[in-house]
Amino acid sequence: LPSDLNDGQADKGEYPHFMLKEIYEQPEALTNAMRGRLHEADATAHFGGLNLTAAQLRQVERIIITGCGTSYYAGLVGEYLIEDLARLPVEVEYASELRYRHPPIDPQTILLAITQSGETADTLAALREANRRGQTTLAICNVVGSSIAREAHGGVYLHAGPEIGVASTKAFTAQCLVLTLLALYLGRLRHLSVSQGQRILRELQALPEAVRQALQCHDSVKTLAEKYSHATNMLYLGRQYLYPVALEGALKLKEISYIHAEGYPAAEMKHGPIALVDEQTPSVFLVPSGPVFDKVLANMQEIKARGGPIIAITSGNEAEVAAIADDVIAVPAVAEYLQPIVTVIPLQLLAYEMALLRGCDVDRPRNLAKSVTVE
Ligand code: G6P
Repeated sequence: LPSDLNDGQADKGEYPHFMLKEIYEQPEALTNAMRGRLHEADATAHFGGLNLTAAQLRQVERIIITGCGTSYYAGLVGEYLIEDLARLPVEVEYASELRYRHPPIDPQTILLAITQSGETADTLAALREANRRGQTTLAICNVVGSSIAREAHGGVYLHAGPEIGVASTKAFTAQCLVLTLLALYLGRLRHLSVSQGQRILRELQALPEAVRQALQCHDSVKTLAEKYSHATNMLYLGRQYLYPVALEGALKLKEISYIHAEGYPAAEMKHGPIALVDEQTPSVFLVPSGPVFDKVLANMQEIKARGGPIIAITSGNEAEVAAIADDVIAVPAVAEYLQPIVTVIPLQLLAYEMALLRGCDVDRPRNLAKSVTVE
């Protein structure tokens, strides 16, 4: 639905904008997306509507994920998740490209469409093309009874509640969560042990609280926004699981504040984007704890050496990050595969605060629609 049809009916409650309300609803939306799906006894996730037996899913050898916009970026997170937890090869393709491609697809490949609205024209067309070829299709949707939810062979609803703000926030984190549950389920059909499954369930249960804590960065993010709201270009850099989050952070900023932003894999910036770096071009670095911590710090040094301001969002050692970055926002450390959900929170808030300071209409950004039902 166009957001203006909904605005009159939906309630913003105490919030000035739907976007802010939806950002703050994330701990609850994640709890709802998990409800009834964590199965302690089997140390796995369960779904009601996949319409595929464990034996059928055991035969799957490859997954193609498709979607548009933010849903496509959730798909990129899904690629890391499913490869890590289920050891299944995954490809992610924009629905607008996939629908016109002619890829060789074997019978053991399933198509997984990701969409908040369930009505995006390109995603629907890609799904229909896969159905026509006799491929098994699944969908992760938020809107119950939407076209894509009806036409896929099976799927999982987000249960994130209505998302009205044009820029997607809670749907993204709920999509990442449902992809984690799916990866856990597929992993437990293959190689994950009971104790590994139990560990993942515990980490999932702790997630809503970690997101609640991450939301406490709001005041610091506001201060950051005041410092940087005059920027005309920004870079968002991350690696591994946080690379798609860099893309999503840049997209949020573009969508609602109209500041040009590019998301890039942190190590790839030396192959081009580094040429953009000057005193007026801030870089937002996503710095996880763990194996790539030092590597991302080295990438930060390269930007610093060229005079670029650095904002770091980190779950790692704050003091080490602060020694290089101009500004640091700390987020809780969670399991590596859940870090996208926690790390995107300050990026959503940064886009929101920057847009407000620039006088933009955050819930109805120019030229964009909540649901794009044309090709
Ligand atoms: C539009 C919206 C985005 C959304 C994309 C895909 O561009 O403005 O927020 O990510 O469509 O929408 P979907 O409903 O398929 O997730």
